[in-house]
Amino acid sequence: MGVLAEDYFEDSAEQRLYRKIYFETFRHLGFIEKCLRQLYKELPGPDLRAALALGASQILFMDDIPDYAAVNESVTLVQPNKKSFVNAVLRNLIRRKEEFQANYSVREDFPGWFVKRWEKRLGEDLEAFLYDLNTKPSFYGINRDTMVLEKLEERSDNYIMDKASFAIAKLAGDCTPMSVLDCCAAPGGKTFVLSETYPDARIFAVEKNPARFEKLKENMAGMGLGNVDCVNSDIMELKTEAEFDLVLLDAPCTAIGTIKRHPEVRWFRNLDSLRENGALQLEMLKKVSTFISKGGIIIYSVCSMEPEETTDVIEAFLKHDSSFQVIEPSCDAEFKNGKYFLSLPYKNDSDGFFGAVLTKNF
Ligand SMILES: C[S@@+](CC[C@H](N)C(=O)[O-])C[C@H]1O[C@@H](n2cnc3c(N)ncnc32)[C@H](O)[C@@H]1O
Repeated sequence: MGVLAEDYFEDSAEQRLYRKIYFETFRHLGFIEKCLRQLYKELPGPDLRAALALGASQILFMDDIPDYAAVNESVTLVQPNKKSFVNAVLRNLIRRKEEFQANYSVREDFPGWFVKRWEKRLGEDLEAFLYDLNTKPSFYGINRDTMVLEKLEERSDNYIMDKASFAIAKLAGDCTPMSVLDCCAAPGGKTFVLSETYPDARIFAVEKNPARFEKLKENMAGMGLGNVDCVNSDIMELKTEAEFDLVLLDAPCTAIGTIKRHPEVRWFRNLDSLRENGALQLEMLKKVSTFISKGGIIIYSVCSMEPEETTDVIEAFLKHDSSFQVIEPSCDAEFKNGKYFLSLPYKNDSDGFFGAVLTKNF
């Protein structure tokens, strides 16, 4: 997936323009394709659809780009025998631009399954939620001297990190762990916060993917953290006699909570991918729960706000092992949602994140 947060303040105007076209196209793809379908008889293949969508997003949503420039760019993207087709469709779109713009609905910028479930959850807040998901995300970063998370307006030396992601690593609050297992660690943002929050602890940061493991090691070395050991391993295969006072499972997930930073993610996820991820997350939680020491704590988190990857996983886990219980997360009131941590982008100026804190009654 796409655009690195660090690139966001990139100076090159050309890069900013390309990124804006990319973002606007994926944000509005549902609505754009609905308009385009009214302008041709037969569904064109993927390359033509991409060229048409890129042109249409500029025509419909980017006033600062002249319509003729958008058409010309799309025409250059396709094979010679398709140029007149792309030219004709986009010129028709320009002719009917005002009519289409007048019928714009933000709901069509998202897949139907997503809108339906969020309408049930939020009622009249739905549109505010959807509009916000289509806006530019804020950037926060950790000031390396003070360890305070600051909102960033320009490039800085701060370690870029989402507000909710930062809060996740602190959910266990004022405990004094001597050993911490960070099960899915790369690129290491939460490892960094854990290391600074619990300086007396030894932190084992496990990452399966070799390339991401290298990035984790590089990041940890760059920060000069003395209490972190990086381990290149699949957490599901990890064999150890050691027990850990704090286990963080920042599990792989659909990342649907990062829609603002990755507008394309909404089109690549569906109910099946939510269920598949939920099943994997449950297995991972079962496995990592075996590593916990007496009185130890597990933080479970995902950058998703969907029940299949969040509350359903915790409930299924508690059914599997009733010796665990959910305890109150240590976080600002803005993130509290019953006994869980939940950030919603339109309320918290953050990614969508879920967190649960579990402890075991031995
Ligand atoms: C959500 S990201 C973690 C982000 C990280 N905690 C941070 O704050 O920077 C999930 C990571 O888990 C890794 N991962 C997935 N399955 C794993 C497994 N079975 N064992 C160890 N790492 C795994 C992925 O490669 C990915 O880097």
